[in-house]
Amino acid sequence: MSKSSRDGAFADPDRHVMEKAYARWAPLYDAVCGPIFESGRRAAAAAARSVGGRILEVGVGTGLSFADYDASCEIVGIDMSAPMVSKALDRLATGQFPHVKSVMVMDASDLAFADGTFDCVVAQFVITLVADAERVLDECARVVRPGGEIILVNHLYSERGLTAAIERLFARPARALGLRPEFPFARLAAWANAHGGVALVERRPIKPLGVYTLVRFRRLAAVQAEAAE
Ligand SMILES: C[S@@+](CC[C@H](N)C(=O)[O-])C[C@H]1O[C@@H](n2cnc3c(N)ncnc32)[C@H](O)[C@@H]1O
Repeated sequence: MSKSSRDGAFADPDRHVMEKAYARWAPLYDAVCGPIFESGRRAAAAAARSVGGRILEVGVGTGLSFADYDASCEIVGIDMSAPMVSKALDRLATGQFPHVKSVMVMDASDLAFADGTFDCVVAQFVITLVADAERVLDECARVVRPGGEIILVNHLYSERGLTAAIERLFARPARALGLRPEFPFARLAAWANAHGGVALVERRPIKPLGVYTLVRFRRLAAVQAEAAE
């Protein structure tokens, strides 16, 4: 039984369902989802820029964020959806984004990078959609250097009131659309506690509506991690 099932929430998304959903989204994604996710995407990229250096975008999608970075960074993007990556490669081929070094098809739960390769790992609207969020977070923490950051932005579960009831109602049909409205912040916090090598440094709602939450974790040096235990 998955952790989310144990907690009484809906089961984690099935990878194949997500792959199908994003194959369907790929031709429409920029027009439909681009504006909807813009505030969160930009806030996460701005936070990543302030870390700078080598940045891994996990679940890079069609590469809408390429324009949010500049020559102060080197971007590598990965995504499990070949049709989404194909769109990102088209965008890269325009030559407008020399700071983007490569984009490739890869599953976030099995990153083909050495430990500590990146200064920062960013995942915009991804962690709630993966089949095993804790495993993906472990991988993000592995490939980020000590002192580097993991930056997430998502809609997180509202937990109470009418909004939470609507999110629970929408949770099952949302899967087929490649969405997940009922992923709680507590799960990210529990992961960080269990991991021991990361510290939560920020959790803030994104303006103007506060619908999205930006979460930053810092990778601790080994000595700090031991002291925190
Ligand atoms: C909502 S889109 C976000 C795309 C982009 N980050 C943005 O903000 O526009 C979610 C993306 O996560 C990708 N994704 C989902 N599960 C993944 C996994 N296990 N590994 C890599 N990418 C994944 C999907 O293929 C999709 O492109």
